[in-house]
Amino acid sequence: IVRMTDLDLNGKRVLIRQDLNVPVADGQVTSDQRLTASIPTLQLALEKGAAVMVMSHLGRPKEGVWTAEDSLAPVAKRLGELLGREVPLVRDWLDGGFEVKPGELVLLENCRMNVGEGKDDEALSKKYAALCDVFVMDAFGTAHRAQASTHGVIRFAKQAAGGPLLMAELDALAKALDNPARPLLAIVAGSKVSTKLELLSSLVGKVDQLIVGGGIANTFIAAMGHGVGKSLVEMDLIDTAKKIMADAKARGADIPVPSDVVVAPAFAADAPATIKTVDAVGADDMILDIGPQTAARYAELIRAAGTVVWNGPVGVFEFDAFGKGTETLARAIAASKAFSIAGGGDTLAAVDKYGIEQDVSYISTGGGAFLEFLEGKELPAVAALRARG
Ligand code: 3PG
Repeated sequence: IVRMTDLDLNGKRVLIRQDLNVPVADGQVTSDQRLTASIPTLQLALEKGAAVMVMSHLGRPKEGVWTAEDSLAPVAKRLGELLGREVPLVRDWLDGGFEVKPGELVLLENCRMNVGEGKDDEALSKKYAALCDVFVMDAFGTAHRAQASTHGVIRFAKQAAGGPLLMAELDALAKALDNPARPLLAIVAGSKVSTKLELLSSLVGKVDQLIVGGGIANTFIAAMGHGVGKSLVEMDLIDTAKKIMADAKARGADIPVPSDVVVAPAFAADAPATIKTVDAVGADDMILDIGPQTAARYAELIRAAGTVVWNGPVGVFEFDAFGKGTETLARAIAASKAFSIAGGGDTLAAVDKYGIEQDVSYISTGGGAFLEFLEGKELPAVAALRARG
């Protein structure tokens, strides 16, 4: 893949696809991790003397209609604050006709408002390509989508390159998965086995230890023959969980299962929390976190790991009474010498809550893209860049 860092961009029109798809409430950006992550790329392009056009989607708007709700206006404002310069938002940009000089930067309105974006339309991709001398794909978070702004445009741009953020993400993931310092430990947690099935199956062949948490762990606990009471569980996936455990065993990977858990009679912040051994969970109990013994055992595994990949909180950490398991693991990752990588919305919220940003080796901006990469899938945008050489 050609890297933007290796290109002479002086005086060139450079179209940079970023993933600036951030949460917005009441016209304000509420989490700017993705914006912050894009800044070094944008600054570098400006320093190289490029005329910079930034392209991104926000949400999943209907194509062909502009609405204020789907506008990137709040993003332009926050991006401007972070860059320390005004970021003009260009509303009608598809046919060019707007001005941007070398050393200047504009943000193009939500590219998902363009008809054909979602289905990777060729004519639209060519229009994007016609706007620039160089197209830079830097939106790792959207690299799993084969759409006109992430895929089609790469085929038709005069020159196409991978941006610094995209390349850093790919480099970090390769370091964690291709030739990892061992033991390689993955934490996969979240509410449902069904949404992480491919991930679990793929990781079982790669990792030394696979810690499961949340509803996923409940399904594994049930698969071992324990009662899980009123916990979130997918009974129809018990056999799948058993198969994953057998598969792991055959491949020499360990899937440790909780020995104790924190239960409550209801899913609520103020529900009374009780620690129970896993075989003592009652019919009215909901498992909302791993227990302290289990958390300590997992923390020890993390301490001994060479590489840690973290996706998903192991308990309902939004409620303090059920956040101790996630906090213990977060602190263990922060203290560990392992190369650590964390990704996914909930995971980043936990990283933020426990203030360990500086202590995780790499924090991914990808949600779905991060998962698909871990599942071993080739991301369409990356494949398109590779095909360009
Ligand atoms: C994300 O938030 O995961 C990316 O921005 C992709 O968004 P999408 O799922 O709407 O394609």
